[in-house]
Amino acid sequence: MAVKDILKMGNPVLRKIADTVETPGSPEIAALVADMYDSLHDVGGVGLAAPQIGISQAVVIFEVPEARVQAEDGLDARGVASTVLINPVIEPLSDDVSLGWEGCLSVPGLRGLVPRYTHIRYRGLGMDGGAVDVEARGFHARVVQHECDHLLGILYPERMTDMRLLVYESEVQAFLAGLREAADEDMRVT
Ligand code: NI
Repeated sequence: MAVKDILKMGNPVLRKIADTVETPGSPEIAALVADMYDSLHDVGGVGLAAPQIGISQAVVIFEVPEARVQAEDGLDARGVASTVLINPVIEPLSDDVSLGWEGCLSVPGLRGLVPRYTHIRYRGLGMDGGAVDVEARGFHARVVQHECDHLLGILYPERMTDMRLLVYESEVQAFLAGLREAADEDMRVT
C-alpha cells in the first residue's frame, strides 16, 4: 500500500460531505484503509479520516494508546483498540460537554480547545461489513467526534467557541517552559 499526502485546511476535499460507502467489504475499501493506516503511522497521530488523503468516502480509523488516554482521562481509563469505522453515526448519550485540546494532521502546528460531548454511542460498519456499536466516554469519545466531523467537512477550529484558544503548539510549549522556569525561580528564592 502507500503513504499518501495529507491534505491541509483550505483543500476543498476537506469541506465536502463524504459519500456513504456502498461496499464495505470490497477490496477497494480494504486498499483505502491500508493506505490510511500507512499514512497515519507515517506521521503519527490517533486518527485519520479518508477525506484527509483525498478520498471523500465515509471511512475513519483511530487507535489511542492506553498511556495517551490515561494522560487525558486518568489512570482508570483504557486504551482504544485500532478501529475502522465505515458510515459512522454518532449519538450523544448526555448533554455534558467538556473542553479539551485537539490537533489535526490537516491543521499542522496548531492546537485548539474544543468542546465535545463526553459520552456518546457510535455505530457503523467494520471492515468486513459487520456492525460496530460502541459506547465511548472522554478522550475516546472526543477522538471519534473529531474524526467523524471530517466526514461532514468540518475541521475542529469550526467547533471552537473561543478562538483565542487556537494557538501554535510551539508557542504553547514556550509558554509552558516559561512557567516551568518561573516555578524553578520560585523554588530558588524560597
Ligand atoms: Ni483531524
